[in-house]
Amino acid sequence: MSLLITNISELVTNAPLEAVSVASPGPFEAIADAAIVLDAGRVAWTGIAAEAPAADEVVDAAGRAVLPGFVDSHAHLVFAGERGAEFAARMAGLPYSAGGIRSTVAATRAASDDELRSNLARLAGEMLAQGTTTFECKSGYGLTVADEARSVALAGEVTPEVTYLGAHVVPPEFSGDTARYVDLVCGEMLAACAPSAKWVDVFCEQGAFGADEARAVLAAGEAAGLQPRIHANQLGAGPGVQVAVEAGAAAADHCTFLSDADVDALAASGGTVATLLPGVEFSTRSPYPDARRLLRAGVTVAIASDCNPGSCFTSSMPLCVALAVREIRMTTAEAVWAATAGGAHALRRTDVGHLGVGARADLFMLDAPSHAYLAYRPGVPLIAGVWRSGERVA
Ligand code: NIG
Ligand code: FE
Repeated sequence: MSLLITNISELVTNAPLEAVSVASPGPFEAIADAAIVLDAGRVAWTGIAAEAPAADEVVDAAGRAVLPGFVDSHAHLVFAGERGAEFAARMAGLPYSAGGIRSTVAATRAASDDELRSNLARLAGEMLAQGTTTFECKSGYGLTVADEARSVALAGEVTPEVTYLGAHVVPPEFSGDTARYVDLVCGEMLAACAPSAKWVDVFCEQGAFGADEARAVLAAGEAAGLQPRIHANQLGAGPGVQVAVEAGAAAADHCTFLSDADVDALAASGGTVATLLPGVEFSTRSPYPDARRLLRAGVTVAIASDCNPGSCFTSSMPLCVALAVREIRMTTAEAVWAATAGGAHALRRTDVGHLGVGARADLFMLDAPSHAYLAYRPGVPLIAGVWRSGERVA
């Protein structure tokens, strides 16, 4: 059954106009007075509405904008409990530190599979309702072999983009013996998690894991068939970005504190995306990363939510786009591109993040005439409809 959505004021495609088929996301691109045809879960045609072919079913967008579904390439959704009091204390002046993660680890270990599953379903539902049609999901709040294995298995029930983050922090029972915990992460825990994961990640930061430990975790993950990505340079300067580029990681995430050498390394990497997570700086009242410096250097930039109970408890990509525009000085087109095509690059996906012919028919309609309204009207629920694989899902 084909579906024609017509009378679209602005159709953001991130794909060249008039292309017969599109193999991966291109630069930001939009068509005015447009239409799109979806068929068999894919984009079958895009162009100006006046030239649209007939279809089995027609939806009138009535002058609204249509965009590719958001690709949220960084989220921690498998957890139990909440840290509202920690957030309130932070807003009263306490700093954010990696230590809060341990309280979520305790709550997650104590939770049943069904509690974790229902929390995950609630957050995945929130994401979908806000236009996110592809998201990555990390483990990292279990930190035992059994709890990490169930975390990646549960994540796999809601997304194919599953990341093994056994190296999130050193759990209390290994306190003072990081080397022995890294051995577990690279050995028995990895063996239990690798069959359910696509990615391996490590929190490379003061208070978490150092450069050599991060290298060991990524190398072990790769040997087990996983692809590397990394938490880098979030709380201060450090080796994370260099480790990411050396490892050929798909993405270095956070990138808040970068040296010139870090920016140069990302620019020269040819494939390591810098994922900015402005919701984190917003929620921890920290300095924002310098997106303009990265863009000037030619680095591929993605925007993601980092949805987690500690440093940033938002599942809203519209909020992250608004922050990217208003706080880190990206243009509206750059921010929307980073939250769609940029996320796809960060997940090495060619089928999402754009609406070129042949792409997955993952898209949303905005109750507004252009993509700019995501930042122009921050906090307003503008998502008027979501389609995933051509099916209306929200
Ligand atoms: O990406 N940086 C490490 N992990 C998360 C925070 C997790 C937490 O505070 O629970 C992050 O910010
Ligand atoms: Fe994170």
